[in-house]
Amino acid sequence: MSADCILVLDEGTTSTRAVAYAADGTVLGVAQQDLTQYYPAPGLVEHDAAEIWERTLACARAVVARAGGADRIAAIGITNQRETVVAWDRQTGDPICRAIVWQDRRTAPMCAELRERGLEPWLQARTGLVVDPYFAGTKMRWILDHVPQARELGDRLALGTIESWLVWKLTGGLHVSDASNASRTQLFALDGADWDGELLDLFGVPRAALPDVVDNHGRFGASDPRLFGRAIPICGLAGDQQSATIGQHCLNPGDTKATFGTGAFILTNRGTQLPRSDHRLLGTILYQAEGERTYALEGSIFVAGSLVKWLRDELGVIRVAGESEVLARSVPDNGGVLFIPALAGLGAPHWRPEAKGQLIGLTLGSSRAHIVRAAMESLAHQCHDLQAAFAADGSPWSLLRIDGGMSANDWIAQDLADMLGLPVERPSDIETTALGTAMLAGVGAGLHASLADAVTMRSTAARFTPHMDDSRRSDRLALWQAALARSSG
Ligand code: G3P
Repeated sequence: MSADCILVLDEGTTSTRAVAYAADGTVLGVAQQDLTQYYPAPGLVEHDAAEIWERTLACARAVVARAGGADRIAAIGITNQRETVVAWDRQTGDPICRAIVWQDRRTAPMCAELRERGLEPWLQARTGLVVDPYFAGTKMRWILDHVPQARELGDRLALGTIESWLVWKLTGGLHVSDASNASRTQLFALDGADWDGELLDLFGVPRAALPDVVDNHGRFGASDPRLFGRAIPICGLAGDQQSATIGQHCLNPGDTKATFGTGAFILTNRGTQLPRSDHRLLGTILYQAEGERTYALEGSIFVAGSLVKWLRDELGVIRVAGESEVLARSVPDNGGVLFIPALAGLGAPHWRPEAKGQLIGLTLGSSRAHIVRAAMESLAHQCHDLQAAFAADGSPWSLLRIDGGMSANDWIAQDLADMLGLPVERPSDIETTALGTAMLAGVGAGLHASLADAVTMRSTAARFTPHMDDSRRSDRLALWQAALARSSG
């Protein structure tokens, strides 16, 4: 039996999945487990890194069995929630504290201080990132300041994002990160060869604790033979949003995708040109191959799928996620209700970590359908703000490719097309995050000559075209802008 399949570990914010692909992109098996979310205080979000590893391994083993055994697997690819920081002891391989999740706002005071010191323009020019608690650098600093073991361990301390943690556990001690994940730490210059000495000094993060930065495809190491019965090479690594961009085949400058997962992240391929934003967008590494980088401009929205989860689990206005579409369609409009979904602060282009969610315009005539509709509409409103910022930065969109769990909602897809005034395309397989890493690992393992070659792994798209009349569209946008302005005090 030949090894011609790819095993992708797709470690997201709320669940971890394993997917086995045949070389032509056919899905051979999927396993998924939810992850425990810890909210120890308002604004704090944590994960248990040991649980992430155990559940990822359990999913991987289930899928390897479904694909016909480890002998069928040519390579492993890993894609992950970005910016989430894990700290562990190199000797024991155990985490020393909970992982601090990308949504966590605890380092807002540290970020305010960096801004007050006037460092933001310099940091943005060097890393492509604005100053916000979202990124990994201040989270690493927080661990060094607040977890006694982090200091006590000295050289035994390892810091990394989720791909590094999983590679470490899979290989039994290899410490690497890929360029797309490294570019989200604030410790890595967009055009630098390695971790940046000045940035490491600024954040006080020791180089010795960090992984080595590698390409997004290649042969980085192999899994411990005891895990799957045989050593399987690890050939692809990527942050989940960069991976979805590749999985959506946004391989040419200008190609744009939006992934609606826990948050919503829009990336436009900028080719080899260093991305610079004057409108509060992020410059990021899309992928690196043989040291050569392709970049993207990114707009990060912090709350998307988590909004539906919140409507279900906390407000109880829907019983299952799919009900959000039914309720949104059940009323002709939002009935004057507007939702500002700043449940984890506001991301791009506003960057207001202190912002809180708001539900406004309620009357006795407001129903739960209006509330749900207002929540769903807030997605297109936020994407519209990003559309304006991308255009102002010289990257206008002509077509938006959507994916991720929420993109299955036809009402949202149509509302996006209407509010953005452009065609929206959805592939039939909306799990493009895993697919992108299957493409990367396929290239790394030599199953494909290049990413362009791996484009055969593609599913057909549904297309949504705009048909909302202009006055209705501008009325909605005017209300949204007014509410946003009021909410910033
Ligand atoms: O930057 C955070 C992002 O990587 C999280 O992705 O898929 O869990 O919403 P997701």
